[in-house]
Amino acid sequence: MSAKPRVAIVMGSDSDWKVMSAAKEILTEFHVECVARVVSAHRTPEDLGPFAEEMEAAGVCAIIAGAGGAAHLPGMIASYTTLPVIGVPVATNSLNGMDSLLSIVQMPKGIPVATVAIDNATNAALLALRILATGDHKIRAQLIAYRKSIADLSRQKTEKLK
Ligand code: RP5
Repeated sequence: MSAKPRVAIVMGSDSDWKVMSAAKEILTEFHVECVARVVSAHRTPEDLGPFAEEMEAAGVCAIIAGAGGAAHLPGMIASYTTLPVIGVPVATNSLNGMDSLLSIVQMPKGIPVATVAIDNATNAALLALRILATGDHKIRAQLIAYRKSIADLSRQKTEKLK
C-alpha cells in the first residue's frame, strides 16, 4: 500500500506535464508522496470542488496548480479550499507565458494563490516542502541540505572560472 499523499499536483491539461513533472521530481527526491491529476477549470469545472474536497480529505497539505493561457485553475481551486495553493504559470506558444503569469498572480483580495516564476515547477515543489517543513523536522533538515548543495554548486562555478 502506498503512503498517503502530502502534496497534490494538478494541471489544466496533460500538455502541462512537461513543466509540472519537475515538481514531482523534487518531491520524489525528498521522498514526499504526491498525487498528480488533470482537472480543467473550463473543460471540467464541475470537478474542481470535488477535487479540492478529496485532497482535503486525503490529508494533503499543499496544492501545486499549473495552467497556461487564461490560467484560472489555481485561483478556482483556491476558492474551493483553505489549503495553500501554489500556482505555476505554464508558458504556452503565445505571449511568452505572460498571459499565464498575470492570470495566476493577479488574484483579487480574499483568495490567495502563491505564484512562482513562469514554468518554475521546481520552486513550487520547494515552496510546498517549506510549508510541510514547518511541522516536519526531517523535511526541514532535507531543505537545509538542499540549500547547502546548491551553495556548493554555486561556489564550484567560481572555481571553474580560475
Ligand atoms: C490550459 O490550456 C492548460 O493548462 C494548458 O496549459 C493549455 C493548453 O491545453 P491543451 O490544449 O494542450 O489541452 O487549460
